[in-house]
Amino acid sequence: MEKTHRVATAIVFGAVLTLLAPILALQLDYLRYHWRLAPSDTHGDKAMVVSAHGLASEIGRDVLAAGGNAFDAAVAVNFALAVVYQQAGNIGGGGFIVYRLADGTNGALDFREKAPLAARRDMYLDADGNVIKNASLRGHLAVGVPGTVAGMVVAHEKFGSMVWADLLTPAIKLARDGFVLSHKGARMFNRYQSDFSELNIHTPNVLKARGWQAGDTARFPMLAETLTRIAKNGRNGFYKGPTAQMIVAEMGSGGGLITQADLDAYRPVWRAPIRFSYRGHEVISMPPPSSGGVALAQLLKGAEPYQVGRMGHNSAAHIHMMVELERRAYADRASYLGDPDFVDVPVDRLVSNAYVKARMASIDPWQKTDSTEIREGHVDRIESVETTHVSIVDPAGNAVAMTTTLNGNFGSKVVVRGAGFFLNNEMDDFAIKLDYANQFGLLGNSQNAVAPGKRMLSSMTPTIVTKDGDLRLVVGTPGGATIITSVFQTIMNVVDFGMSAQQSVNARKAHSQWQPDMVMLERGTLSVPTQIGLMRRGHRLYAWPRFKYELGRVEAVLIGVDGGREGAADYTRGEDDRASGF
Ligand code: GLY
Repeated sequence: MEKTHRVATAIVFGAVLTLLAPILALQLDYLRYHWRLAPSDTHGDKAMVVSAHGLASEIGRDVLAAGGNAFDAAVAVNFALAVVYQQAGNIGGGGFIVYRLADGTNGALDFREKAPLAARRDMYLDADGNVIKNASLRGHLAVGVPGTVAGMVVAHEKFGSMVWADLLTPAIKLARDGFVLSHKGARMFNRYQSDFSELNIHTPNVLKARGWQAGDTARFPMLAETLTRIAKNGRNGFYKGPTAQMIVAEMGSGGGLITQADLDAYRPVWRAPIRFSYRGHEVISMPPPSSGGVALAQLLKGAEPYQVGRMGHNSAAHIHMMVELERRAYADRASYLGDPDFVDVPVDRLVSNAYVKARMASIDPWQKTDSTEIREGHVDRIESVETTHVSIVDPAGNAVAMTTTLNGNFGSKVVVRGAGFFLNNEMDDFAIKLDYANQFGLLGNSQNAVAPGKRMLSSMTPTIVTKDGDLRLVVGTPGGATIITSVFQTIMNVVDFGMSAQQSVNARKAHSQWQPDMVMLERGTLSVPTQIGLMRRGHRLYAWPRFKYELGRVEAVLIGVDGGREGAADYTRGEDDRASGF
């Protein structure tokens, strides 16, 4: 009897511990995070560059110190990241710029990749209509027509003040002479060695039999030659001549679709940004084919009626409000958003005050809404996580928020033979099959179906915030679907909670996106009472370990009341990320 009792006690004790384990694990991280002192912002009186790699930030700062403007610095930083941060910095991918000039003029540049002309709606399905595993993610068929080089060229043509070739010189030097790998840099190269080997029929420089070590000098002479062609010939250094021939040959050798006609046809697009107000601030963000600006407008407008600053940062009430807003905004994203050059996107209606008010009216502060009650049938897919953001403010007050991506880490993992750079796997940002749950458990919608020459929906959210006509914040981040919610939280951290740039970047982040119906928490986000408060409202909490390392790496510049530039790089989640200013 006594033995039975002991066994029963042990079972009950074990069950209670099992139930409490996630809460206890989150609590340990919460304490660990809150014990650590937040590092201070990097201060510059005049100018600031924040990026995912210190070497790139320093190059941007040097361009500004030599008299270049924010666009000159953006070009130089982008090409430097293509060398020192190859998992996301790129010439084989695409991205977006949101800018605001010192005189208040603003705009957006779309250099997102496009589906090749030979792409078809069902290109990732087999004869039975089933998705061919990994075809949109790995290898040559996953590659969209790159837009980055064309984007840099038109940005420079319109706004640059320095000689184009000079802006590429530092990147060429880094690629040719080499740079010292950090722990993180070596780890990233090592993590994908078998992919590099499997998905390339040649031996790219990043393959190393004994693996990479921190402290190794990494040299990329073929990439240096490609950058030299781009330095000499601008757009034609990439979309025509030897580089283009190598891209087309690489595609031919691996079953990819991109031809010379695709490269000739690629053009970036200047677009009108999404603009709206939030508590007396003006927010300027990226329009479709990004979902970022529309969703951010819905989230911030939806948050405005709440007394967010009084809720307590990351309190149960605060997280509940964010999650309920996000549930509705991401459901709209799935149903309505796609490439505006191909499908009708009702942007004005989605971001109108009346619509957002009505859309968010069903939020109950004490009870979550089940995602299935919000909409059935149409659901969203999440992009993979590796992207990179650069925030720049120059001495004149011009600001550039630039987010670029290869999609996954190192994109398709395909390196162009002879040209030495990675190609994106951006085709996976399309809905490759209607209502198909992708590897993240999420679904797609016909607005975002594959079509020749169409741009795939993005979440990238380069954003600029002003107050009373003065520049206040330049912000953006990698992180796939979590990009939007990280930018949302960073803006609230500054506007509602009065945080400094570095505090707002470092602050732990939570994420929810309608489907899956759960709250994803970065470790260290919530105290036990907050977790209980959320569970009582019906939320399922999920501690996402990768969130700590890969997602929500916000890079921001905050302008102080004295006009000083406070740079905040997310080196708690990244490692190489740095702010550099003067
Ligand atoms: N590939 C990530 C995004 O564009 O959102």
